[in-house]
Amino acid sequence: MRSAGGVIERYRDRLPVGDSTPVVSLGEGATPLLPAPRLSERYGVEVWLKWEGANPTGSFKDRGMTVAVSKALEEGVRAVVCASTGNTAASAAAYAARARLPAVVLQPAGAVALGKLAQTLALGARVLEVRGSFDQALAAARELADRGTHALVNSLNAYRLEGQKTAAFEIVEELGGPPDVLALPYGGGGNTRAYVRGFEEADAGMPRILAGEAARRPETVASAIRIAEPAHAAQVDEALRRSGQVVSLSDEAILAAWQTLAREEGLFCEPASAAGVAALASLQVEPGSRVVCVITGHGLKDPETAARLAPPVIAVDPDPEAIAALT
Ligand code: F0G
Repeated sequence: MRSAGGVIERYRDRLPVGDSTPVVSLGEGATPLLPAPRLSERYGVEVWLKWEGANPTGSFKDRGMTVAVSKALEEGVRAVVCASTGNTAASAAAYAARARLPAVVLQPAGAVALGKLAQTLALGARVLEVRGSFDQALAAARELADRGTHALVNSLNAYRLEGQKTAAFEIVEELGGPPDVLALPYGGGGNTRAYVRGFEEADAGMPRILAGEAARRPETVASAIRIAEPAHAAQVDEALRRSGQVVSLSDEAILAAWQTLAREEGLFCEPASAAGVAALASLQVEPGSRVVCVITGHGLKDPETAARLAPPVIAVDPDPEAIAALT
């Protein structure tokens, strides 16, 4: 059940917060875990979709941001900063607005989807377009944070991963145990680490983790995961050596999964969010396995890509005969 207090209220005893932490929440978490009958049939496994686009700003980032911004407020910081391909930015902007803290967002020039940019600007963040890649923007944000004026709210902020691990708790509670396989997109790797930690702490067993990354990391169509140098690569490799693997995906494979989710399961996500499903599609998984695919962000985040890949809209007069002839 979605609670107004969000993940801190629900999992207070498993998060680094105390009685004096001012909770900044927008009611995040408690997202739907949806059965996926068409995908299940196609792959001969039992597929569930963890629909993280249902979070307040439309992505999983909100689970971590509620903890990071609450702690920033408790620690008396004066502003927050992040580098972002768009979703972290929108989430930071929303939680900072709620906390009445200024937010500075560094985004790679020309590489952020329109929905995310509009959202971040509307939420009052100061958006600076860095002439460079996401990795260069992140390096600049880290240096700014090191000067002590701004708290970094990228996933290098340990509180972010703490909040994000709650998605694994929800899955274990809802399924009555961990799935056999968890498939999700792999950008910087923070979310993969958060799930590993969540399953470890739930102490019910570790699923095999399929982390789907874009084969062409620096230029993939999946702009949310257009990251050349994943900040958490060493820890992801270490964790997946024990249980799972990184799956390298072509843009075509990511877009095919994205289209299948929309047309066959009725779930409109942004392209990067389909990378877990694409990873499942490209591997052999034991028949009958229970598989959770994490769908990380909403399709409205990236309207340009959706529109570009859509068939043309047909114009017609308001004439029932003409309309009937076209249906
Ligand atoms: N899916 C979406 C929709 C994302 O926005 C991101 C990351 C990921 C997956 C990958 O998660 O980096 O923890 O492996 N977005 C970051 C951002 C980079 O700035 O919004 P990860």
